[in-house]
Amino acid sequence: MSALTPREIVEELDKHIIGQSEAKRKVAIALRNRWRRQQLPDDLRDEVAPKNIIMIGPTGVGKTEIARRLSKLADAPFIKVEASKFTEVGYVGRDCESMIRDLCEVSINLIRDEMQESMKSQAAANAEKRLLDILLPPQPKKATAEYVFNPNDPRSGDEGPAKNLIENEPDAETRTRDILLRKLRAGDMDDREVEVTVKDSGTNPMMQVFSNSGMEEMGINLQEMMGKMAPQKTKRRKVTVAEARKILEQEELADLIDMDAVVPQAIERLENSGIVFLDEIDKIAGRSGGNQGPDISREGVQRDILPIVEGSTVMTKYGPVKTDHILFIAAGAFHISKVSDLIPELQGRFPIRVELHALLSEDFGRILREPKNSLIKQYTALLETEGVSLTIVDEAIDTLAELCEQVNAESENIGARRLHTIMEYLLESISFEAPERSGDSITITPEDVRERLTGIIEDQDLTKYVL
Ligand SMILES: Nc1ncnc2c1ncn2[C@@H]1O[C@H](COP(=O)(O)OP(=O)(O)OP(=O)(O)O)[C@@H](O)[C@H]1O
Ligand SMILES: [Mg+2]
Repeated sequence: MSALTPREIVEELDKHIIGQSEAKRKVAIALRNRWRRQQLPDDLRDEVAPKNIIMIGPTGVGKTEIARRLSKLADAPFIKVEASKFTEVGYVGRDCESMIRDLCEVSINLIRDEMQESMKSQAAANAEKRLLDILLPPQPKKATAEYVFNPNDPRSGDEGPAKNLIENEPDAETRTRDILLRKLRAGDMDDREVEVTVKDSGTNPMMQVFSNSGMEEMGINLQEMMGKMAPQKTKRRKVTVAEARKILEQEELADLIDMDAVVPQAIERLENSGIVFLDEIDKIAGRSGGNQGPDISREGVQRDILPIVEGSTVMTKYGPVKTDHILFIAAGAFHISKVSDLIPELQGRFPIRVELHALLSEDFGRILREPKNSLIKQYTALLETEGVSLTIVDEAIDTLAELCEQVNAESENIGARRLHTIMEYLLESISFEAPERSGDSITITPEDVRERLTGIIEDQDLTKYVL
């Protein structure tokens, strides 16, 4: 499990998300606490419940972005689900427990990847040996009717036949193999064609009709079940040596991984360090005050989620999974509803609240400039592919940021997402003409920005449609 300190986690998040330091700190602490808990003695460890978090903030200020970046850092089974998806299908919605089942799959994959990583060199060695066997099928050992020296045989002389003088001289076959191996490793043979036998992974088309819809509730994957019953088909394929090596390595890896060992490890990891990010939780807030349909369904979803957050056992196809120590991070804009609109039991299970702040022009300026893959870096790189070199001068970025804040204030506040629309609009004609302007250097000044954007921003009605 990741041993990043809270400070390191925040530093890592800082590379992508501007501001929101309070939220970053809290998720960093929560993540670190998982690691701390792992160091505790058994009896105490069971007592330490995760401190679930609710992130509250207007739209487009980085809630989902924090989750996305966190998932890459967590090195733990991590899943992001939209709470609203559990209502979408109407009254029943998608079964809430499915999020744990999905997380279980994530965990299995995580452990399997880890194991594969550790077995890679072994698999590569095995694959190489098989590849060599294909290129140079091993000769059946010749039953060399070795001449047995018998001094009493009148046909034999006084001495035995001359022995191979150099004791460990490899025979011709071994030598050819060695030469071939060297060529193979040097990649000299990569383009040669060979025939390999591969397992036919084509699934039965009929089974696909059934799968996914509704079956998931059973926690069984029918397709997999039927797949196991049907005999494994193989087919021969002509591929290059380079491809064959990949195919064989994959096969060897799969053979080396013991699923019986993966499953218990995966469940253990899931139960102790799994993280569920419940996005859009505000969409399920609302209690059945009257008898409006949607509210009843929303409260139903909350009631379904509650036992999972509180700790219960969910059946998955790999076995029962206890959810007591899974960390839940919820996020929502809470524009219309309030956190207090959640049912009290659920509110109580999210003891840590953190507010994300609305973004101002200063933040927008930094968002355009600083993140590793900021919008400006993206556009510059995209135009670079057309041979156009784009420079947006510093003051122009400031102007963009100010305009962004202004539009957000005057029409709807959609946070940093506004930058996407503004940038796209600003660069529209350049994007269109780029192929014809190959070789050009384009510099965008504050005047260019104003010229292109002010007209629209002043016209409120136009803003609504364009930006
Ligand atoms: N603080 C920030 N730093 C850098 N980029 C940001 C920040 N806030 C938002 N963004 C960018 O804005 C876009 C939208 O952000 P995000 O998806 O996190 O919004 P959200 O807070 O989840 O909003 P919603 O409530 O609508 O789901 C993303 O492309 C993200 O990169
Ligand atoms: Mg979001």
